[in-house]
Amino acid sequence: MSDLKPEPKKLFIKTYGCQMNVYDSERMAETLGGQGYVETSSPDDADMILLNTCHIREKAAEKVYSELGRYKGLKAEKPDLKIGVAGCVAQAEGQEIMRRQPLVDLVVGPQSYHRLPEMEAKTREGAKALDTDFPEEDKFERLKSRPKAARGPTAFLTVQEGCDKFCAFCVVPYTRGAEVSRPAVQVLDEARDLVDRGVREITLLGQNVNAYHGAGEGGDWSLARLVRGLSKIDGLARIRYTTSHPNDMTDDLIAAHGECDKLMPYLHLPVQAGSDKILKRMNRAHTAESYLKLIDRLREVRPDLHLSGDFIVGFPEETEEDFQATLDLIRAARYGTAFSFKYSTRPGTPAAERDQVAEDVKSDRLQRLQALINQQQRELQDAMVGREVSVLFEKEGRLPGQMVGKSEYLHAVHVAEANVARGEIARVRIVDSAANSLAGVLN
Ligand code: SAH
Ligand code: SF4
Ligand code: F3S
Repeated sequence: MSDLKPEPKKLFIKTYGCQMNVYDSERMAETLGGQGYVETSSPDDADMILLNTCHIREKAAEKVYSELGRYKGLKAEKPDLKIGVAGCVAQAEGQEIMRRQPLVDLVVGPQSYHRLPEMEAKTREGAKALDTDFPEEDKFERLKSRPKAARGPTAFLTVQEGCDKFCAFCVVPYTRGAEVSRPAVQVLDEARDLVDRGVREITLLGQNVNAYHGAGEGGDWSLARLVRGLSKIDGLARIRYTTSHPNDMTDDLIAAHGECDKLMPYLHLPVQAGSDKILKRMNRAHTAESYLKLIDRLREVRPDLHLSGDFIVGFPEETEEDFQATLDLIRAARYGTAFSFKYSTRPGTPAAERDQVAEDVKSDRLQRLQALINQQQRELQDAMVGREVSVLFEKEGRLPGQMVGKSEYLHAVHVAEANVARGEIARVRIVDSAANSLAGVLN
């Protein structure tokens, strides 16, 4: 980097997909900051537009092309505008994106975005830039310096990337590559830096975050050890992690849920389906029973644990009976939140080759599953009324004097006339439960 400050240029980033993309977008904005870019909230005044994309379902991928189409006019008006595609569609489709949409100047995969500055320079010379490598060098080492700007009270921190599980429906092992963990010291340093800048809650991220095994003092660190290490950081009040796989929920990590005060009682633990036949065909390598036992063990050490999950309905060869087994599992597990999707055929994955379930059957099952989840979610939420929770306040509410924050269970909590600052944690008594949030009063 030279000492001469280049002209400020404007960067518009649009993020799709999971929290890891949110984190990556922050890091891409920071690295392009070194090239003189500042972020803008509108594509209209941007010098560079970057779409950070998701490939998980067909609709997600198609959205990217329709969004790109919308920028045609802008590019015609402003020939210097550079348009880039990052993330999982970039990784999966590479050059094909430029062929399908010639206005794209740059395509960068999730493992090579530390090379964005060089790539951006290349596009400024009028060339196209493509990089979807899985490079040898450590992306995070190259990205090391984050600007010292103040931050809000919560932050994401990617500790693990990629996946070796190869669920039969999923593109992630292909778009994000093999499972890799960041060294523990790198994570601890980044966490301390975030806390110095005002962060009070960190969510550790990974496509398979509980498979974390980063190099650390005395050998590889597990996620449990990392959580314990992070909880020693003064000023850091809350730790969460997502997304976990049931097969990587080790004894030590379960124990940490009972012992570590800073680890919040909320766990996203996707199971996908409740029929053992389907789980096997999905290559999940666990059964419905082993999953339910795991939840029992977690609730033994943390009885108030709020559970969250992901479900796929209409996986190839799923019968009504298989689907009923999923509903049974949901009833037994009691979810505080759950995300559900119709199976989407992803070319190149094993399940794409199998007998598909009709679209109307998928829609019907999704509706029934979501009705059950909504009912369960509402019951658990309503049961919070009268209880006391701790709230980390994140922002002002819409009403004067109102503040909004999150409980330890990740419920949004609104507090009227709250004389608290952003980033403060206070005890709140819940007095009402609405569709998607709770209302409380300071205790
Ligand atoms: N690594 C995480 C999340 C993967 S993607 C995990 O293993 O849980 C998030 C969710 O998208 C998955 O849990 C799954 O429910 C859903 N998903 C993945 N591939 C899908 C597909 N082909 N069709 C529909 N939903 C899918
Ligand atoms: Fe995809 Fe399965 Fe890996 Fe999750 S565990 S990212 S669903 S392959
Ligand atoms: Fe989507 Fe890639 Fe995340 S496919 S869900 S953005 S890992």
